Amino acid sequence: MVKICCIGAGYVGGPTMAVIALNCPSIEVVVVDISVTRISAWNSDQLPIYEPGLNEVVKQCKGRNLFFSTDIEKHVSEADIIFVSVNTPTKTRGLGAGKAADLTYWESAARMIADVSKSNKIVVEKSTVPVKTAEAIERILTHNSKGIKYQILSNPEFLAEGTAIQDLFKPDRVLIGGRETPDGLKAIQALKDVYAHWVPEDRIITTNLWSAELSKLAANAFLAQRISSVNAMSALCEATGADVSQVSHAVGKDSRIGPKFLNASVGFGGSCFQKDILNLVYICECNGLAEVANYWKQVIKVNDYQKNRFVNRVVSSMFNTVAGKKIGIMGFAFKKDTGDTRETPAIDVCKGLLGDKARLSIYDPQVTADQIQRDLTMNKFGWDHPIHRQPMSPTGVKQVSIAWDAYEASKDAHALCILTEWDEFKTLDYRRIFDNMQKPAFVFDGRNVVNVEMLRDIGFIVYSIGKPLDPWLKNMPAVA
Ligand code: NAD
Ligand code: UGA
Repeated sequence: MVKICCIGAGYVGGPTMAVIALNCPSIEVVVVDISVTRISAWNSDQLPIYEPGLNEVVKQCKGRNLFFSTDIEKHVSEADIIFVSVNTPTKTRGLGAGKAADLTYWESAARMIADVSKSNKIVVEKSTVPVKTAEAIERILTHNSKGIKYQILSNPEFLAEGTAIQDLFKPDRVLIGGRETPDGLKAIQALKDVYAHWVPEDRIITTNLWSAELSKLAANAFLAQRISSVNAMSALCEATGADVSQVSHAVGKDSRIGPKFLNASVGFGGSCFQKDILNLVYICECNGLAEVANYWKQVIKVNDYQKNRFVNRVVSSMFNTVAGKKIGIMGFAFKKDTGDTRETPAIDVCKGLLGDKARLSIYDPQVTADQIQRDLTMNKFGWDHPIHRQPMSPTGVKQVSIAWDAYEASKDAHALCILTEWDEFKTLDYRRIFDNMQKPAFVFDGRNVVNVEMLRDIGFIVYSIGKPLDPWLKNMPAVA
């Protein structure tokens, strides 16, 4: 029986291995992690991450051929194929701080593999890593090899949170990069055989190692660039009276451009887009490609601009001050159908409003109060490290309260800010909400989920990203 061990039981390691285990009953899959709480949660009925469809998949194979364990060394030493899916956060200190990927967790995993292995291994990079990481890993492993042979493969993951299970079941492609030597090709084939249990062969692409590593960074950079492009257009739409949804629709009808990923928003979030672009920028700079680095940097600058622009719009519309005013924050996760808040635009928007002394009442159907408080007190990039390296007991932000539902968050509020596109925000009883708010009552929709005309008929002053401006807002222009 082929044995797989995955180091890192997070958003990628957990769901990816569950889907492999479900589709390959003949393979034993063990997911290991240094976090005892995470592994206990995987072994309980309350999984550590919320992802539609995940529970059902895990239920079917946990205890059959899918196991979660903290006994890292045992399972690594027994495995034929080792996936490494640990954090690769942005460095917070030293050379490349604020840009380069911090490979501390990757390197310690590689050193541990070298220490405990007694048989040949295929080591698979599942984490997103800088180009040429495989070379560094290869050096660590072969310098300590005791005659054991290692083949390093790059097999980046393209799943998106909220749709992880469907992405894993029907991937657009599976990418496997490896050495173009007989042993390298054999290792590529071994991993291909795993995916071939459920992925059609024409969707499994094989490349050299560096192309696979770079393709992952490139794919995220292209996706984020589309969002920054449409968000840049949203500012121009507001200035000219064009409607960004109509512009996106018209542009996306061009089959060369396509309709996906053209929704204007308060900004992109998530654990990877910013981190991976910063990493790309750093690699370009290290290779003397300043123009290329600056080109990609602009994607992040526009994203920051969009978040600031939103905060400025809120403050300027409300007579240039939100001091002491209650603002209901609808949604805190970085997108719908996930409880993940890593790099969510809600953090910057909330911090911006708190900077202007607003009082916030935050409601999100999936994010815990502790998580929100921790996010609002954490330093930039602090979240991006394993849980045991993050602050334990947040002191909490006094001007922030957490609400149980949208109605509580909006009661007596002067304004609502919609920051995550949860479906339930489309069907709230906005008449009831309006009646319980201070007047004038504002809605700032950072995700274009509400029916603007209906809300205006109720009496709200409505701002919706990239849409023709309410007459009220035209008279109160936001300075970005
Ligand atoms: P995560 O923080 O959810 O999980 C990483 C896990 O690795 C943590 O549980 C941590 O405790 C564990 N870990 C760290 N060092 C370890 C070690 N030495 N030994 C054992 N366990 C260790 O992170 P994630 O979101 O799963 O991301 C992992 C990688 O996958 C990152 O490189 C990320 O860029 C990439 N990625 C993430 C996504 C996504 O949607 N989240 C998608 C594609 C790729
Ligand atoms: C993204 C990529 O889509 C995945 O392919 C990749 O594997 C993953 O990053 C990663 O490497 O971590 P994810 O961050 O989970 O996945 O979610 P996305 O659906 O890409 O959304 C990212 C952010 O962009 C969210 O804040 C979302 O609201 C925003 N977004 C997305 C927009 O503002 N407009 C859009 O049209 C699409």
